[in-house]
Amino acid sequence: MKAIRIVQAGCGGMANAWIQYALERQDTELVALVDIFEEAAKKMNEKYGLSLPWYASVEEAIRQSNANVVFDCTIPTAHQAVATAALNGGCHILSEKPMASTLEEAEQLADLATSKPELQYAIMQNRRYLKDIRALRGLIAQDVIGHVNFVTANFFIGAHFGGFRDAMSSPLILDMAIHTFDQARFIIQANPVSVYCHEFNPKGSWYEGNAAAACIFEFDNGAVFTYNGSWCSEGAPTSWEAAWRIAGNKGTAIWNQAAPYAEIVAPGQDNKFIYDYQRVEAPYVWTGREGHAGCLDDMFQAILEGRQAETAYSDNIFSTKMVFGAIESAKTGRKVTL
Ligand SMILES: NC(=O)c1ccc[n+]([C@@H]2O[C@H](COP(=O)([O-])OP(=O)(O)OC[C@H]3O[C@@H](n4cnc5c(N)ncnc54)[C@H](O)[C@@H]3O)[C@@H](O)[C@H]2O)c1
Repeated sequence: MKAIRIVQAGCGGMANAWIQYALERQDTELVALVDIFEEAAKKMNEKYGLSLPWYASVEEAIRQSNANVVFDCTIPTAHQAVATAALNGGCHILSEKPMASTLEEAEQLADLATSKPELQYAIMQNRRYLKDIRALRGLIAQDVIGHVNFVTANFFIGAHFGGFRDAMSSPLILDMAIHTFDQARFIIQANPVSVYCHEFNPKGSWYEGNAAAACIFEFDNGAVFTYNGSWCSEGAPTSWEAAWRIAGNKGTAIWNQAAPYAEIVAPGQDNKFIYDYQRVEAPYVWTGREGHAGCLDDMFQAILEGRQAETAYSDNIFSTKMVFGAIESAKTGRKVTL
């Protein structure tokens, strides 16, 4: 019997990356598939040449197998039930973002996970596991631009998904901006204290809910972070990682598709109206894998070492609060304390 035995919950598009990861590992086996549709599980079995049993419920799958890990790749509204079943069933839970579809659910999950310190509960934040963002974070950590004052992220993509996102009331903020919000915390190494958000659905949008938003966050280090995003914006797309400008008191860091870099005040600039600047390339430091594999590598290592993963619920709750604070602000028209 292998050390890590997985119930795969949710057999849709995203599950592929998780299943492929599990199949690659020598110490890991998949023991059951869970989906509300048997057909979805059947397709996964066929695609990967597996013959795993299908269950409609995570509880039943855990009871019938000897699993010790649950992968949650179900839709956001199902995450709370799946994570609760996993933790109560004695399994570590590694989940796709977002933690849950309301802040109350996410906080209940955090409380449950805190009461079971022997179990890991970690969230997929694959956009942290990129050599570019790690290099950018290094520029900030090494004080190259000085104290971070102002952070901007622009995210404009015309994404025609179909499926559950089209019916969500806040598809951009809940299903995508969680990545960018989490990236902001990761890059500047600070946590949010308030948000003001205006969320809207642009004319011509193919989403039912609000597919665009402008948010202003204040952070506990005094930095202000503004996010402009749209998931129904045609033409001149940004990358999925967003276009970033981070202004510090000594210079500015830029990350927009190409390698991140900083421009800082050159030495000897007294008595000038506009100073000359010098360019500083961001040193590449990340040697791990990128994307989902990189995040899963850390989650698995955390299980094996009995430590918290970098994207454990206790960290991710701060990014989750940014999401639900933004939604609340948009609804009430008020700045929300996080
Ligand atoms: N990290 C990323 O970059 C990234 C990218 C895409 C999607 N995601 C996330 O992955 C998750 C899944 O997205 P997707 O694109 O695979 O969606 P999907 O609709 O393709 O698949 C979801 C699957 O979950 C099943 N399901 C729904 N409710 C269920 C329940 N209660 N119990 C068991 N199965 C259930 C559905 O039948 C479907 O097969 C979402 O949380 C999404 O936000 C993350």
